[in-house]
Amino acid sequence: PTPRLLAFAGSLRQGSYNRRLIHVLAEGARAAGAQVTLIELRDFALPIYDGDIEADGMPENARRLQALMAEHDGLLVSTPEYNGSMPALVKNTLDWISRPLESGRSGVTLFQDKVAGIVSASPGPLGGLRSLLVLRDALAKLGLLVVPQQVAVGQAADKLTDYGVLNDDRLRTGVHGVGAAVVRHLGVMNSTVDRKGA
Ligand code: FNR
Repeated sequence: PTPRLLAFAGSLRQGSYNRRLIHVLAEGARAAGAQVTLIELRDFALPIYDGDIEADGMPENARRLQALMAEHDGLLVSTPEYNGSMPALVKNTLDWISRPLESGRSGVTLFQDKVAGIVSASPGPLGGLRSLLVLRDALAKLGLLVVPQQVAVGQAADKLTDYGVLNDDRLRTGVHGVGAAVVRHLGVMNSTVDRKGA
């Protein structure tokens, strides 16, 4: 079966380097055989998580995100780095998805045994590398297998000049490699399941 991956950038702004970069990662995953659904977090406009809002009824867009996660086998994220960590937007998105489903089942089950690939971009020299460490840990905590390959694109203003454009051959190969690794890991996991079933 064709692996289906949900993809987003952890930034809302129009000129986001991470939005440009998520297109490169999606391209790598597609080239490796995945079907990628690229979403804009701006379209979901989730409030900061608030238990009172949840008690009044999960926001429709949080339910939509849960449904999207359920329909996909993995996750691709391009994250900015804010003060050495992932932006609240990324954490907030993961937190809403993790909340209980209408069925009462934990939302965390939506992530379990799925595969993630992560990259980051920043105008600074380290490319947001520290945000990758924090995001990797958060995704692993939710039960995703985060592939070991990752790329932090520094000096993003020079390198990410448009959607899907990464003007550095070595980095572009690396980002495509993250997408390919996600597809490869899903293939291995599926064949393991098949063997167990046989
Ligand atoms: C930043 N930025 C930043 N960059 C970095 O490399 N390390 C950091 O710790 C921080 N910290 C930080 C905090 C806050 C609150 C903001 C708003 C920004 C700069 C950041 O990398 C830059 O704004 C990027 O352009 C954000 O990513 P997008 O929106 O271009 O995808």
